[in-house]
Amino acid sequence: MKNNRVSLSVNINKIATIRNARGGNVPDVLLAAQRIESFGAQGITVHPRPDERHITYSDVYNLSKIVTTEFNVEGYPSPDFLKMVEDVKPHQVTLVPDPPGVLTSNAGWDTLTHASFLKDVIAQLKAGGMRTSVFVDTDLKMIDGAVEIGADRIELYTESYAVNFHNDKAAAVQPFSLAAAHGAGLGLKINAGHDLDLANLKFFAASIPELVEVSIGHALISDALYYGLENTVQMYLRQLHEA
Ligand code: PXP
Repeated sequence: MKNNRVSLSVNINKIATIRNARGGNVPDVLLAAQRIESFGAQGITVHPRPDERHITYSDVYNLSKIVTTEFNVEGYPSPDFLKMVEDVKPHQVTLVPDPPGVLTSNAGWDTLTHASFLKDVIAQLKAGGMRTSVFVDTDLKMIDGAVEIGADRIELYTESYAVNFHNDKAAAVQPFSLAAAHGAGLGLKINAGHDLDLANLKFFAASIPELVEVSIGHALISDALYYGLENTVQMYLRQLHEA
């Protein structure tokens, strides 16, 4: 029987990066999102950045009208970002502590230092009917902090797992197993993302029974160049189904 425990949310930022390289509407981000959903993905993720170098704020408004699966919007909770998600009301908002200039997210939140800011943001988002998830490293204190600020979920930052996977996959996943069990024990649901790919995804999902969602962008969109988008989405889904 197929195991549908873990949802695949496809991050489509890279499709917007290709589009923006030419200034027109090729490839069409909205069409890609619809296709990805029709191929079986359970969610679409976008991460608009203040410089709009890939997904633009206008993309987020447009996508919100056509996404029929779970819509997850990630980002730093600046006033502009908060206004946008208040307007669009995605199913889930993933709060990420990235400063404006970084290429990609490179750390989880310090949920203790930023507790009072995050608590207010989360209360505002929840009052608007949105689920909240907080991007964190595997440090258990930061996960305790996520509970204190009222987050519904945490998204575990998996870069270190991906880097260490090729040397010793059991050691690589161990901090994530501990963190997921700890968070779930405190009532959090567990998401994960960053640098997950066809090689490392199945072992990660199999090792973490508490995992409910992964968001995957760079590797999946790159694989689609070789295998096609439909095949690729289904290859990733198979890794999760078999985990
Ligand atoms: N989660 C967060 C918070 C991210 O910033 C990103 C990258 O935008 C991802 C997940 C997806 O990472 P990747 O593109 O490496 O799959």
